Amino acid sequence: MVAAVRVHRFGGPEVLTYEDVAVAAPGPGEIRVRQHACGVNFIDTYFRAGTYPSPIGLPFVVGSEGGGEVIAVGAGVSEFQCGDRVAYVTGLGCYAAERLVAADRAVKLPATIGFEEAAAILGKGITAEFLLRRTFRVEKGMTVLMHAAAGGVGLLLCQWANHLGANVIGTVGAKDKAELARANGCHHTILYRDEDFVARVKQITGGKLCDVVYDGVGKATFPASLDCLRPRGMFVSFGNASGQIQDFNINLLQQKGSLFATRPATFTYIAKRADLLAITEDLFAVIGSGAVKVTIGRRYALHDAAQAHRDLEGRATIGSSILVP
Ligand SMILES: NC(=O)c1ccc[n+]([C@@H]2O[C@H](COP(=O)([O-])OP(=O)(O)OC[C@H]3O[C@@H](n4cnc5c(N)ncnc54)[C@H](OP(=O)(O)O)[C@@H]3O)[C@@H](O)[C@H]2O)c1
Repeated sequence: MVAAVRVHRFGGPEVLTYEDVAVAAPGPGEIRVRQHACGVNFIDTYFRAGTYPSPIGLPFVVGSEGGGEVIAVGAGVSEFQCGDRVAYVTGLGCYAAERLVAADRAVKLPATIGFEEAAAILGKGITAEFLLRRTFRVEKGMTVLMHAAAGGVGLLLCQWANHLGANVIGTVGAKDKAELARANGCHHTILYRDEDFVARVKQITGGKLCDVVYDGVGKATFPASLDCLRPRGMFVSFGNASGQIQDFNINLLQQKGSLFATRPATFTYIAKRADLLAITEDLFAVIGSGAVKVTIGRRYALHDAAQAHRDLEGRATIGSSILVP
């Protein structure tokens, strides 16, 4: 038996139950991993609350991102052996001391990336990569708007977009977050709880507006995010930290300047192993070069997962949070 955090019924952070679970020997194509750290992600709160349906019903172990050491290998696995340092992004199952992972979902960690860093950024960094390089290709001289710029995905997006030569505007919920975002590649910050962010974007860009808006906030920033885009600009809605956007009227795209809109999800972008490997190679390269740094704002013991969720949903975190089994 190993320590894990499970959900038996949907609800608030209080439904996160710290308990022992059995972990089987790895089946064909699987590896068993002793986890050194688990990433905390907003998506974990959607599964906990039932906003996203659990593909395996109840109960389930929460958590979508982790890193650790391979301790057993199932039949047919040739790419990994015991002792390998690995990380992975999966829908569920990461808040645990040990777990099984499908080998084709794991990647080997370069020596320069520690387990905690890996757990903090593998999923968030994969997201940043495909958002900036594949969903919409940010190029030198473009102007980009990132909401929640000091968050886990946000800090990675800001640094990476800056590295690509973009003019980076970030919205943040507090002054200390503005400072942090500026220290991580944001050229301009907007306190969107106090300021009209559309008016500020117009002012900052001299009316030219943005080539792309990356919006993981959702309900609270929609449809205003569309007003930050130049004609034929791209609206990338990639999350729902404030709630899901309802009743999206496609005619808005025509009215606001022949805009494009997309709602990407990580699992589509890494469904093929070749894509997973290409994206993580790109991610490890920008981290290895020092262009993108990992900020672990908070570390919690695994049994404090509920507090980690309260802090994340309460907008109290910066950068990435991790759980340490
Ligand atoms: N599409 C994908 O595949 C994918 C993959 C990974 C993550 N995501 C999404 O990316 C977003 C960021 O994820 P993350 O894990 O890195 O979280 P995070 O950005 O560290 O935390 C969420 C942030 O959203 C902001 N926020 C605005 N309104 C909020 C509200 N009503 N309640 C709570 N937070 C609010 C807060 O920042 P301020 O205080 O600065 O406003 C908060 O810190 C999430 O929407 C997540 O679902 C999507």
